[in-house]
Amino acid sequence: MHFDLLIQNIKGLAQVRPFGTPTPLRGETMSQLPVITDGFVGIAEGKIAAFGKMAELPSGYSAQKVIDARGCFVFPSWVDSHTHLVFAASREEEFILKIKGATYEEIALHGGGILNSAAKLRQMSEDDLLETSLTRAHEIINQGTGAVEIKSGYGLTTRDELKMLRVARRIGKETSLTVKTTLLGAHAVPKEKSKADYIAEIIYEMIPAAAEEKLADYIDVFCEQGFFTPDETAQIAEAGKRYGLKPRLHANQLHRSGGVQAGVKTGAISVDHLENVGEEEIHYLKNSATIPTALPGAAFFLGLSFPPARTMIEAGLPLAIASDYNPGSAPSGNMNLMVSLACIKMKMTPEEAINAATVNTACALELQHALGSITIGKLANLFITKPIPSVAFIPYAYGSSLIDTVILKGKVIQVK
Ligand code: NIG
Ligand code: FE
Repeated sequence: MHFDLLIQNIKGLAQVRPFGTPTPLRGETMSQLPVITDGFVGIAEGKIAAFGKMAELPSGYSAQKVIDARGCFVFPSWVDSHTHLVFAASREEEFILKIKGATYEEIALHGGGILNSAAKLRQMSEDDLLETSLTRAHEIINQGTGAVEIKSGYGLTTRDELKMLRVARRIGKETSLTVKTTLLGAHAVPKEKSKADYIAEIIYEMIPAAAEEKLADYIDVFCEQGFFTPDETAQIAEAGKRYGLKPRLHANQLHRSGGVQAGVKTGAISVDHLENVGEEEIHYLKNSATIPTALPGAAFFLGLSFPPARTMIEAGLPLAIASDYNPGSAPSGNMNLMVSLACIKMKMTPEEAINAATVNTACALELQHALGSITIGKLANLFITKPIPSVAFIPYAYGSSLIDTVILKGKVIQVK
Protein backbone atom coordinates (compact mmCIF):
# COMPACT_ATOMS: atom_id res chain seq x y z
CA MET A 1 0.00 0.00 0.00
CA HIS A 2 1.36 3.44 -0.93
CA PHE A 3 0.55 6.61 0.98
CA ASP A 4 1.32 10.14 -0.15
CA LEU A 5 1.28 11.06 3.52
CA LEU A 6 1.33 8.91 6.62
CA ILE A 7 0.65 10.33 10.08
CA GLN A 8 1.92 7.88 12.66
CA ASN A 9 2.18 7.36 16.41
CA ILE A 10 -0.95 9.45 16.94
CA LYS A 11 -1.84 9.63 20.63
CA GLY A 12 -5.57 9.87 19.80
CA LEU A 13 -7.18 9.67 16.36
CA ALA A 14 -10.59 11.19 17.00
CA GLN A 15 -13.93 10.85 15.23
CA VAL A 16 -13.23 7.59 13.40
CA ARG A 17 -16.37 6.29 11.74
CA PRO A 18 -17.05 3.30 9.51
CA PHE A 19 -17.90 3.72 5.84
CA GLY A 20 -21.66 4.01 5.34
CA THR A 21 -24.48 6.46 4.95
CA PRO A 22 -24.00 8.97 7.74
CA THR A 23 -27.04 10.56 9.28
CA PRO A 24 -26.94 13.28 11.93
CA LEU A 25 -26.01 12.08 15.40
CA ARG A 26 -28.98 12.68 17.66
CA GLY A 27 -29.85 12.44 21.36
CA GLU A 28 -27.82 9.86 23.24
CA THR A 29 -25.66 8.99 20.18
CA MET A 30 -24.15 12.48 20.32
CA SER A 31 -22.24 11.49 23.45
CA GLN A 32 -20.12 8.88 21.63
CA LEU A 33 -16.87 10.10 20.06
CA PRO A 34 -14.84 7.11 18.80
CA VAL A 35 -11.08 7.59 19.38
CA ILE A 36 -8.25 5.22 18.39
CA THR A 37 -5.22 5.42 20.67
CA ASP A 38 -1.70 4.93 19.31
CA GLY A 39 -3.00 5.19 15.77
CA PHE A 40 -2.10 6.06 12.22
CA VAL A 41 -3.87 7.56 9.25
CA GLY A 42 -2.66 7.07 5.67
CA ILE A 43 -3.57 9.49 2.89
CA ALA A 44 -3.49 8.82 -0.86
CA GLU A 45 -4.77 11.01 -3.71
CA GLY A 46 -6.22 13.54 -1.29
CA LYS A 47 -8.38 10.99 0.50
CA ILE A 48 -8.18 8.90 3.64
CA ALA A 49 -6.85 5.53 2.44
CA ALA A 50 -6.36 3.68 5.72
CA PHE A 51 -6.39 4.22 9.48
CA GLY A 52 -6.16 2.12 12.61
CA LYS A 53 -3.87 1.17 15.47
CA MET A 54 -0.11 1.42 14.81
CA ALA A 55 0.04 -2.37 15.25
CA GLU A 56 -2.31 -2.68 12.26
CA LEU A 57 -0.20 -0.60 9.86
CA PRO A 58 -0.14 -2.75 6.69
CA SER A 59 3.20 -4.52 6.26
CA GLY A 60 5.13 -3.48 3.18
CA TYR A 61 3.55 -0.03 3.00
CA SER A 62 5.45 2.86 1.49
CA ALA A 63 4.98 6.53 2.26
CA GLN A 64 6.26 9.57 0.43
CA LYS A 65 6.08 11.74 3.55
CA VAL A 66 5.73 10.76 7.19
CA ILE A 67 4.63 12.95 10.09
CA ASP A 68 5.20 11.71 13.61
CA ALA A 69 2.32 12.78 15.86
CA ARG A 70 3.62 11.46 19.17
CA GLY A 71 1.71 13.06 22.04
CA CYS A 72 -0.73 14.70 19.63
CA PHE A 73 -4.34 14.19 18.61
CA VAL A 74 -5.72 14.16 15.08
CA PHE A 75 -9.23 15.41 14.35
CA PRO A 76 -11.25 15.73 11.15
CA SER A 77 -11.40 19.40 10.13
CA TRP A 78 -14.26 21.43 11.51
CA VAL A 79 -17.22 21.93 9.20
CA ASP A 80 -18.71 25.38 9.76
CA SER A 81 -22.26 25.30 8.39
CA HIS A 82 -23.21 28.96 8.96
CA THR A 83 -21.10 32.02 8.19
CA HIS A 84 -21.29 35.45 6.62
CA LEU A 85 -17.54 35.68 6.09
CA VAL A 86 -17.74 37.73 2.91
CA PHE A 87 -18.12 41.31 4.14
CA ALA A 88 -16.53 44.65 3.45
CA ALA A 89 -15.60 45.98 6.88
CA SER A 90 -15.68 45.26 10.57
CA ARG A 91 -18.15 47.10 12.85
CA GLU A 92 -16.34 47.67 16.12
CA GLU A 93 -18.02 51.09 16.48
CA GLU A 94 -21.27 49.17 17.15
CA PHE A 95 -19.41 46.94 19.58
CA ILE A 96 -18.70 50.05 21.63
CA LEU A 97 -22.35 51.17 21.44
CA LYS A 98 -23.34 47.72 22.70
CA ILE A 99 -20.88 47.94 25.57
CA LYS A 100 -22.58 51.24 26.50
CA GLY A 101 -26.00 49.57 26.56
CA ALA A 102 -27.52 49.67 23.06
CA THR A 103 -29.22 46.48 21.89
CA TYR A 104 -28.69 44.77 18.52
CA GLU A 105 -32.21 45.81 17.48
CA GLU A 106 -31.68 49.47 18.50
CA ILE A 107 -28.49 49.63 16.47
CA ALA A 108 -30.25 48.09 13.46
CA LEU A 109 -33.13 50.60 13.76
CA HIS A 110 -30.69 53.52 13.64
CA GLY A 111 -29.13 52.49 10.31
CA GLY A 112 -26.39 50.40 11.86
CA GLY A 113 -26.28 46.65 11.66
CA ILE A 114 -26.89 44.89 8.36
CA LEU A 115 -27.69 48.15 6.50
CA ASN A 116 -24.37 49.62 7.64
CA SER A 117 -22.56 46.58 6.20
CA ALA A 118 -24.59 46.83 2.98
CA ALA A 119 -23.64 50.47 2.43
CA LYS A 120 -19.96 49.58 2.66
CA LEU A 121 -20.19 46.44 0.55
CA ARG A 122 -22.00 48.16 -2.32
CA GLN A 123 -19.02 50.54 -2.68
CA MET A 124 -16.49 47.75 -2.94
CA SER A 125 -15.36 46.03 -6.14
CA GLU A 126 -15.60 42.25 -6.43
CA ASP A 127 -11.81 41.91 -6.41
CA ASP A 128 -11.36 44.04 -3.29
CA LEU A 129 -14.15 42.14 -1.56
CA LEU A 130 -12.40 38.89 -2.45
CA GLU A 131 -9.10 40.13 -1.10
CA THR A 132 -10.48 41.21 2.27
CA SER A 133 -12.59 38.05 2.59
CA LEU A 134 -9.66 35.77 1.72
CA THR A 135 -7.86 37.01 4.84
CA ARG A 136 -10.73 35.60 6.89
CA ALA A 137 -10.77 32.38 4.87
CA HIS A 138 -7.07 31.82 5.61
CA GLU A 139 -7.66 32.65 9.24
CA ILE A 140 -10.31 29.93 9.65
CA ILE A 141 -8.17 27.40 7.75
CA ASN A 142 -5.43 27.98 10.32
CA GLN A 143 -8.02 27.46 13.06
CA GLY A 144 -8.90 24.01 11.73
CA THR A 145 -11.93 24.61 9.50
CA GLY A 146 -12.01 22.63 6.26
CA ALA A 147 -15.48 23.33 4.91
CA VAL A 148 -17.62 26.39 5.26
CA GLU A 149 -21.00 27.73 4.26
CA ILE A 150 -20.92 31.37 3.16
CA LYS A 151 -24.02 33.53 2.86
CA SER A 152 -24.74 36.65 0.88
CA GLY A 153 -26.96 39.22 2.61
CA TYR A 154 -24.93 42.42 2.73
CA GLY A 155 -25.69 43.49 -0.84
CA LEU A 156 -29.48 43.78 -0.73
CA THR A 157 -29.63 44.47 -4.49
CA THR A 158 -29.50 41.74 -7.11
CA ARG A 159 -26.19 43.09 -8.41
CA ASP A 160 -24.50 43.17 -5.00
CA GLU A 161 -25.94 39.89 -3.72
CA LEU A 162 -24.58 38.15 -6.83
CA LYS A 163 -21.24 39.90 -6.31
CA MET A 164 -21.04 38.41 -2.81
CA LEU A 165 -21.93 34.94 -4.04
CA ARG A 166 -19.28 35.15 -6.78
CA VAL A 167 -16.71 36.06 -4.15
CA ALA A 168 -17.82 33.10 -2.03
CA ARG A 169 -17.45 30.76 -5.02
CA ARG A 170 -13.99 32.22 -5.74
CA ILE A 171 -12.92 31.51 -2.14
CA GLY A 172 -13.76 27.86 -2.87
CA LYS A 173 -11.48 27.97 -5.93
CA GLU A 174 -8.58 29.98 -4.48
CA THR A 175 -8.27 28.12 -1.18
CA SER A 176 -8.49 24.48 -0.11
CA LEU A 177 -11.76 25.14 1.69
CA THR A 178 -14.86 23.29 0.53
CA VAL A 179 -17.44 26.08 0.14
CA LYS A 180 -21.23 25.93 -0.02
CA THR A 181 -23.08 29.16 -0.76
CA THR A 182 -26.41 30.54 0.38
CA LEU A 183 -28.47 33.38 -1.04
CA LEU A 184 -29.59 35.52 1.91
CA GLY A 185 -31.14 38.42 -0.01
CA ALA A 186 -33.81 38.40 2.71
CA HIS A 187 -31.39 39.52 5.43
CA ALA A 188 -32.93 43.00 5.82
CA VAL A 189 -35.05 45.39 3.76
CA PRO A 190 -32.86 48.02 2.10
CA LYS A 191 -33.68 51.66 2.94
CA GLU A 192 -34.61 52.65 -0.59
CA LYS A 193 -37.37 50.03 -1.07
CA SER A 194 -40.68 48.96 0.41
CA LYS A 195 -40.70 45.48 1.87
CA ALA A 196 -43.22 44.24 -0.71
CA ASP A 197 -41.09 45.53 -3.59
CA TYR A 198 -37.95 44.03 -2.14
CA ILE A 199 -39.56 40.61 -1.60
CA ALA A 200 -40.74 40.73 -5.22
CA GLU A 201 -37.18 41.54 -6.31
CA ILE A 202 -35.85 38.56 -4.34
CA ILE A 203 -38.42 36.19 -5.78
CA TYR A 204 -38.58 37.36 -9.40
CA GLU A 205 -35.06 38.66 -9.97
CA MET A 206 -32.49 37.62 -7.39
CA ILE A 207 -33.33 33.93 -7.05
CA PRO A 208 -33.62 33.32 -10.82
CA ALA A 209 -30.37 35.24 -11.46
CA ALA A 210 -28.44 33.37 -8.75
CA ALA A 211 -29.77 30.05 -10.07
CA GLU A 212 -28.95 30.95 -13.68
CA GLU A 213 -25.28 31.59 -12.80
CA LYS A 214 -25.26 28.59 -10.41
CA LEU A 215 -24.03 30.86 -7.65
CA ALA A 216 -26.14 29.58 -4.77
CA ASP A 217 -26.69 26.15 -3.22
CA TYR A 218 -29.25 27.27 -0.64
CA ILE A 219 -31.78 29.99 0.19
CA ASP A 220 -31.93 31.66 3.61
CA VAL A 221 -34.23 34.23 5.28
CA PHE A 222 -33.76 36.19 8.52
CA CYS A 223 -37.12 35.26 10.08
CA GLU A 224 -37.40 37.74 12.94
CA GLN A 225 -39.55 40.56 14.29
CA GLY A 226 -38.64 43.70 12.37
CA PHE A 227 -37.14 41.66 9.51
CA PHE A 228 -39.21 38.93 7.75
CA THR A 229 -42.38 37.22 9.06
CA PRO A 230 -42.89 33.45 8.98
CA ASP A 231 -45.27 33.84 6.01
CA GLU A 232 -42.78 35.95 4.07
CA THR A 233 -40.07 33.48 5.03
CA ALA A 234 -42.08 30.55 3.69
CA GLN A 235 -42.90 32.46 0.50
CA ILE A 236 -39.22 33.20 -0.20
CA ALA A 237 -38.13 29.68 0.79
CA GLU A 238 -40.68 28.13 -1.58
CA ALA A 239 -39.54 30.45 -4.37
CA GLY A 240 -35.95 29.28 -3.80
CA LYS A 241 -37.03 25.64 -3.86
CA ARG A 242 -38.55 26.11 -7.31
CA TYR A 243 -35.02 26.93 -8.51
CA GLY A 244 -33.38 24.04 -6.66
CA LEU A 245 -32.23 26.06 -3.65
CA LYS A 246 -33.10 24.26 -0.43
CA PRO A 247 -33.93 26.44 2.56
CA ARG A 248 -31.78 26.91 5.66
CA LEU A 249 -33.09 29.64 7.92
CA HIS A 250 -32.18 32.20 10.58
CA ALA A 251 -34.77 31.29 13.19
CA ASN A 252 -35.67 32.28 16.75
CA GLN A 253 -32.63 34.44 17.47
CA LEU A 254 -34.23 37.43 19.19
CA HIS A 255 -37.83 36.23 19.69
CA ARG A 256 -40.01 33.16 19.34
CA SER A 257 -40.56 34.35 15.82
CA GLY A 258 -42.14 31.28 14.21
CA GLY A 259 -38.93 30.64 12.27
CA VAL A 260 -38.60 27.04 13.41
CA GLN A 261 -42.14 26.24 12.31
CA ALA A 262 -41.57 27.98 8.96
CA GLY A 263 -38.37 25.95 8.54
CA VAL A 264 -39.98 22.61 9.30
CA LYS A 265 -42.97 23.37 7.06
CA THR A 266 -40.76 24.28 4.11
CA GLY A 267 -38.46 21.27 4.63
CA ALA A 268 -35.44 23.37 5.59
CA ILE A 269 -32.12 21.53 5.89
CA SER A 270 -31.40 23.46 9.06
CA VAL A 271 -32.80 26.15 11.35
CA ASP A 272 -30.06 28.19 12.95
CA HIS A 273 -29.68 30.37 16.10
CA LEU A 274 -32.53 29.04 18.34
CA GLU A 275 -31.84 31.24 21.35
CA ASN A 276 -35.61 31.47 21.80
CA VAL A 277 -37.21 28.06 21.50
CA GLY A 278 -39.63 26.21 23.75
CA GLU A 279 -41.60 22.98 23.82
CA GLU A 280 -43.59 23.76 20.69
CA GLU A 281 -40.50 24.33 18.54
CA ILE A 282 -38.84 21.20 19.91
CA HIS A 283 -42.00 19.22 19.10
CA TYR A 284 -41.93 20.51 15.51
CA LEU A 285 -38.26 19.62 15.13
CA LYS A 286 -38.80 16.11 16.48
CA ASN A 287 -41.15 15.33 13.63
CA SER A 288 -38.82 16.58 10.92
CA ALA A 289 -35.47 16.07 9.19
CA THR A 290 -34.49 19.71 9.86
CA ILE A 291 -31.23 20.00 11.80
CA PRO A 292 -31.28 22.49 14.69
CA THR A 293 -28.06 24.51 14.72
CA ALA A 294 -26.76 26.61 17.59
CA LEU A 295 -24.46 29.59 16.96
CA PRO A 296 -22.93 30.10 20.40
CA GLY A 297 -20.59 32.86 19.24
CA ALA A 298 -23.55 35.13 18.43
CA ALA A 299 -25.34 34.44 21.72
CA PHE A 300 -22.04 35.12 23.53
CA PHE A 301 -21.25 38.36 21.68
CA LEU A 302 -24.77 39.80 21.98
CA GLY A 303 -25.24 38.62 25.57
CA LEU A 304 -28.33 36.57 24.70
CA SER A 305 -29.51 33.45 26.46
CA PHE A 306 -28.03 30.34 24.85
CA PRO A 307 -30.10 27.74 23.00
CA PRO A 308 -31.38 25.00 25.35
CA ALA A 309 -28.96 22.38 24.06
CA ARG A 310 -29.54 19.87 26.85
CA THR A 311 -33.31 19.95 26.43
CA MET A 312 -32.95 19.47 22.68
CA ILE A 313 -30.47 16.59 22.99
CA GLU A 314 -32.54 14.96 25.71
CA ALA A 315 -35.57 15.21 23.41
CA GLY A 316 -33.59 13.04 20.98
CA LEU A 317 -32.79 15.80 18.50
CA PRO A 318 -29.53 16.19 16.60
CA LEU A 319 -27.69 19.45 17.27
CA ALA A 320 -25.11 21.19 15.07
CA ILE A 321 -22.73 24.00 16.11
CA ALA A 322 -21.52 26.70 13.70
CA SER A 323 -19.77 30.05 14.08
CA ASP A 324 -22.06 32.59 12.35
CA TYR A 325 -18.83 34.51 11.54
CA ASN A 326 -20.08 38.03 10.66
CA PRO A 327 -19.16 41.63 11.48
CA GLY A 328 -22.25 42.45 13.57
CA SER A 329 -23.10 39.64 15.92
CA ALA A 330 -20.26 37.11 15.77
CA PRO A 331 -16.86 38.48 14.74
CA SER A 332 -15.06 35.13 15.10
CA GLY A 333 -14.97 32.06 12.88
CA ASN A 334 -12.90 30.09 15.38
CA MET A 335 -14.66 26.73 15.67
CA ASN A 336 -12.43 25.68 18.58
CA LEU A 337 -13.92 28.56 20.53
CA MET A 338 -17.46 27.60 19.40
CA VAL A 339 -16.89 24.08 20.74
CA SER A 340 -15.67 25.59 24.03
CA LEU A 341 -18.71 27.87 24.28
CA ALA A 342 -21.00 24.91 23.56
CA CYS A 343 -19.45 23.12 26.54
CA ILE A 344 -19.16 26.08 28.90
CA LYS A 345 -22.42 27.92 28.15
CA MET A 346 -24.67 25.17 26.78
CA LYS A 347 -23.50 22.32 29.01
CA MET A 348 -22.66 20.03 26.14
CA THR A 349 -19.95 17.47 26.79
CA PRO A 350 -16.75 17.78 24.72
CA GLU A 351 -17.82 14.68 22.77
CA GLU A 352 -21.25 16.14 21.99
CA ALA A 353 -19.81 19.49 20.96
CA ILE A 354 -17.18 17.92 18.69
CA ASN A 355 -19.83 15.72 17.05
CA ALA A 356 -21.99 18.81 16.61
CA ALA A 357 -19.17 20.67 14.81
CA THR A 358 -18.09 17.81 12.53
CA VAL A 359 -20.56 15.03 11.64
CA ASN A 360 -23.70 17.10 12.23
CA THR A 361 -22.52 20.23 10.43
CA ALA A 362 -21.36 18.03 7.52
CA CYS A 363 -24.94 16.67 7.37
CA ALA A 364 -26.29 20.23 7.56
CA LEU A 365 -24.27 21.06 4.42
CA GLU A 366 -25.08 17.72 2.71
CA LEU A 367 -21.36 16.95 2.72
CA GLN A 368 -21.59 13.94 5.01
CA HIS A 369 -20.34 11.55 2.30
CA ALA A 370 -17.07 13.46 1.93
CA LEU A 371 -16.41 15.24 5.22
CA GLY A 372 -16.96 15.33 8.99
CA SER A 373 -15.15 12.17 10.12
CA ILE A 374 -12.05 10.03 9.68
CA THR A 375 -13.54 7.48 7.31
CA ILE A 376 -11.93 5.60 4.41
CA GLY A 377 -12.74 7.36 1.14
CA LYS A 378 -13.53 10.74 2.69
CA LEU A 379 -11.45 13.80 1.83
CA ALA A 380 -8.22 13.97 3.83
CA ASN A 381 -9.26 17.10 5.75
CA LEU A 382 -7.80 16.96 9.21
CA PHE A 383 -5.66 18.73 11.75
CA ILE A 384 -2.90 17.59 14.08
CA THR A 385 -2.88 19.21 17.50
CA LYS A 386 0.10 20.24 19.58
CA PRO A 387 0.84 17.72 22.34
CA ILE A 388 -2.30 17.68 24.55
CA PRO A 389 -3.48 15.37 27.33
CA SER A 390 -6.98 14.52 26.10
CA VAL A 391 -9.88 15.32 23.75
CA ALA A 392 -11.49 17.43 26.47
CA PHE A 393 -8.41 19.67 26.59
CA ILE A 394 -9.51 21.27 23.28
CA PRO A 395 -12.65 22.95 24.68
CA TYR A 396 -11.14 23.29 28.16
CA ALA A 397 -8.14 25.42 27.08
CA TYR A 398 -10.47 27.89 25.37
CA GLY A 399 -7.95 30.62 24.74
CA SER A 400 -5.07 28.50 23.49
CA SER A 401 -4.11 27.84 19.88
CA LEU A 402 -3.73 24.09 19.93
CA ILE A 403 -3.55 23.31 16.21
CA ASP A 404 -0.09 22.47 14.93
CA THR A 405 -0.62 21.21 11.36
CA VAL A 406 -3.57 21.58 9.00
CA ILE A 407 -4.08 19.12 6.15
CA LEU A 408 -6.74 19.82 3.53
CA LYS A 409 -7.46 17.56 0.56
CA GLY A 410 -4.37 15.60 1.54
CA LYS A 411 -1.97 18.56 1.45
CA VAL A 412 -0.20 20.18 4.38
CA ILE A 413 -1.32 23.81 4.38
CA GLN A 414 1.35 26.44 4.87
CA VAL A 415 0.19 29.08 7.29
CA LYS A 416 -0.39 32.49 5.64
O1 NIG B 1 -26.67 35.67 11.98
N1 NIG B 1 -29.13 37.54 12.44
C1 NIG B 1 -28.90 37.97 11.34
N2 NIG B 1 -27.74 37.98 10.73
C2 NIG B 1 -26.49 37.88 11.35
C3 NIG B 1 -26.02 39.17 11.84
C4 NIG B 1 -25.77 40.06 10.75
C5 NIG B 1 -25.17 41.38 11.12
O2 NIG B 1 -25.46 41.96 12.18
O3 NIG B 1 -24.40 41.84 10.29
C6 NIG B 1 -26.53 36.81 12.39
O4 NIG B 1 -26.43 37.04 13.60
FE1 FE C 1 -26.17 34.32 10.64
